[in-house]
Amino acid sequence: MSRLKNKNILVAVTAGIAAYKVAILVRLLVKQEAQVKVIMTPDARSFVTPLTLSTLSKNSVEWKFFSDNGDWNNHVEFALWADYMIIAPCTANTLSAMANGTCNNLVLATYLSAKCPVIIAPAMDLDMYQHPTTKSNLEILEKNNVHIIPSESGELASGLVGEGRMAEPEHIVDFLDKLIEKDLPLFGKHVLISAGPTYENIDPVRFIGNYSSGKMGYSLAEASYLLGAKVTLVSGPSAEKVSHKEITVQKITSAQDMYTAMHNNFLEADITIMAAAVADYRPKEIAEQKIKKDDDTMIIELVKNPDILKSLGEIKTPDQILVGFALETNNEIAFAEKKLKKKNLDFIVLNSMRDKEAGFQKDTNKITILDRNGEQKSFETKSKKEVAFDILSYLITQKLS
Ligand code: CTP
Repeated sequence: MSRLKNKNILVAVTAGIAAYKVAILVRLLVKQEAQVKVIMTPDARSFVTPLTLSTLSKNSVEWKFFSDNGDWNNHVEFALWADYMIIAPCTANTLSAMANGTCNNLVLATYLSAKCPVIIAPAMDLDMYQHPTTKSNLEILEKNNVHIIPSESGELASGLVGEGRMAEPEHIVDFLDKLIEKDLPLFGKHVLISAGPTYENIDPVRFIGNYSSGKMGYSLAEASYLLGAKVTLVSGPSAEKVSHKEITVQKITSAQDMYTAMHNNFLEADITIMAAAVADYRPKEIAEQKIKKDDDTMIIELVKNPDILKSLGEIKTPDQILVGFALETNNEIAFAEKKLKKKNLDFIVLNSMRDKEAGFQKDTNKITILDRNGEQKSFETKSKKEVAFDILSYLITQKLS
């Protein structure tokens, strides 16, 4: 899933040679599950066909105020539909018209009606881009809160080399992603998450572990990223992969490694969620060589691991939000409340082993969230990905709003 999913993106194409790249831009946006509509200036059709763009965007493409059958192509409706409008390429002519409020084609009329953020990707020849008039037009648009993706340097259609090329479609999508990020509820927040099991070594080839898959923690990392946060994931051994390269992953093995990694990141974190299934005990000694099966019985002495969550609760500041998980088999609410208090948490997410849909290795979960004010909310059985959004949305409304 991407941050562009279900966003309505209106792409407006004007008559520059770079218009051929808009086909790639539309494809990239659709691939990220955005809803895309395309409008054009009449001359832009000489550079890229409406048929190409309607096929790629899965929507009809308009360039006139009236369709051939006499229907009115309402520019206001396009403008109201759009969450973001991208004018690419934006020629010197369109730039000037936008700066002066000219309204003689569908793209300009839609721009004037748009209440959503408008992004332009200027494209023109080197000298046109440097011309003082172009520069002052760009300044006017910047003052009018238009987001400008600067032209890039390279070979131009004229054969000259320099600034003026339309930003590459990938860069336009990145720019849009960063703009969307700023409107997301966790923008500017750092979320630290632990996931998966820990393995406690017995000898070089054996360990004590548990069946945690890491799915809940990885889903929380993805959801935090999609809600705008900077995310650090401290993961025990898990087959899960992070969904977005922007999520920082620190792989660890044992509870003691996890303790160190969580403490190293904790001071920076606004929200910390311990979703890991930490081994409570580890072998007192780790044999240097593989243990041989000489005896009929074997006793391994175990010592207690540090309680990572409790240690974080002891140093947390009032601004930091600390969340734990509780997996219980009986007296669920009472045990969860006790853990919430003992570990100084803001929230605890309770799973009951009595729910068949919850627990290790499952794709679904059924949770109840308890908070330090004694409030609790139960959720239906959902996929772990949906549960992750439920948890974060609950934290946002209860604590951040
Ligand atoms: N946890 C932790 N460090 C540990 C054990 C648990 O940080 N050594 C965290 C888990 O990540 C989880 C929460 O504490 O968020 C609750 O874990 P759980 O095992 O259910 O509770 P315990 O405190 O270990 O209590 P008990 O096993 O007795 O139920």
